[in-house]
Amino acid sequence: MCASISGFSKLSKSKKIDWIVETYFSNTEDAKRILKQYWNSNDKLQQLHDEFIENTITNYYLPLGVAPNFLINGKLYTIPMAIEESSVVAAASKAAKFWMDRGGFKTKVISTTKIGQVHFMFYGNPETLKNYFKHIKSQLIYDAKPITKNMEKRGGGILDIELRDKTHDIKGYYQLHASFETLEAMGANFINSCLEQFAKTFKNEAFHFDAFTEEEKQIQIVMSILSNYVPDCLVRAEVSCKVEDLNEDKTISAEEFVTKFIQAVNIAEVEPFRAVTHNKGIMNGIDAVVLATGNDFRAVEAGVHAYASRNGAYSSLSHANIENGIFTFWMEIPLALGTIGGLTGLHPLVKLSLELLHHPTAKELMQIVAVAGLAQNFAALRSLTTTGIQQGHMKMHLMNILNQFEATETEKTTLIEHFKTNVVTHSAVVEAIHQLRMKN
Ligand code: MEV
Repeated sequence: MCASISGFSKLSKSKKIDWIVETYFSNTEDAKRILKQYWNSNDKLQQLHDEFIENTITNYYLPLGVAPNFLINGKLYTIPMAIEESSVVAAASKAAKFWMDRGGFKTKVISTTKIGQVHFMFYGNPETLKNYFKHIKSQLIYDAKPITKNMEKRGGGILDIELRDKTHDIKGYYQLHASFETLEAMGANFINSCLEQFAKTFKNEAFHFDAFTEEEKQIQIVMSILSNYVPDCLVRAEVSCKVEDLNEDKTISAEEFVTKFIQAVNIAEVEPFRAVTHNKGIMNGIDAVVLATGNDFRAVEAGVHAYASRNGAYSSLSHANIENGIFTFWMEIPLALGTIGGLTGLHPLVKLSLELLHHPTAKELMQIVAVAGLAQNFAALRSLTTTGIQQGHMKMHLMNILNQFEATETEKTTLIEHFKTNVVTHSAVVEAIHQLRMKN
């Protein structure tokens, strides 16, 4: 039975659960047991999680794994990754080891500018609006001082505000397009607070601008919000080595491997259907580290995919070439990340992940995250162009299938051994479990 409810958020957690299980579940006791099984036995820790969002009824676990041996600019890292997909951490670890033996990853932060916009409507004379903007710009910045003063002390703040005329897209549509430096913070709250203050000043002061007609004084603010598109908050990650050093796989020569690898990258550069999956593989690495370090993976995803389309067609984020016998594989991506603020000082596992990474600055974290993405992409392309993806993927997925069939520890040991020399497919595993159970 489905039902609506009013005042749900005001109920206690246990009353919320009562309502949920009684309304939606046939076995109410079982549903309650599952929900409560995931509560932390430490009440204080559970309360912390309860208070992250509204209407928390339980915790939703993801594994937190680690990928060691990442050599980045000569420094070794073990990278924390929160992800459910079986093969991702294994692939990252393999790629890390591969490149550790070939000089490691080189990274560079290209820029760190973030963007926010006040969107508004104005139907009067564009020249008078421009004059008003010139007149009010310094006051916009001045009125935001209570918000910006601490950030400014640390070297960040508002970089610039521009008036942008968007009337060719929508009649009467203009923007205050602002850029920010938010240092160690991802900066969403800082930027949004500044923007809302700009909007207030911009609207209110218009009433006192004598050059405006009475109608022109009625500036309509539509909204004030940061942009998750951050093409000027860019980081580059790359690996390179002599072509002949790409010779680890005995079934394929270094030259043949590198040719196929570059073809695979070129295909993703020109073919959107492939580019989406190619970039999804990159995001396997990126999201896992972004999540483990308490950053907003939806913001990163949105920004990265927009960047992948910046030239008008969706394309590969990574590139590869050979010059003078040197293979180079690289990627430049926009990443707005923080190592202070948000969950970073709150979630115990996020704090632990950041400590594992030697307490990185936001710039260092950008580099680590980009490396995780490039490593993941390298691992995927390496499998795709040699063994095919399923071999490694299904090996890692084997445990999930065994768990689905509630295999005992002895059964698991036997079947893992069996599948060291047999191809893992879902039906082959089901058949093997069946055979094993028939024997015993
Ligand atoms: C699977 O999660 C990711 C891959 O599909 C990426 C790719 O195809 O490059 C393996």
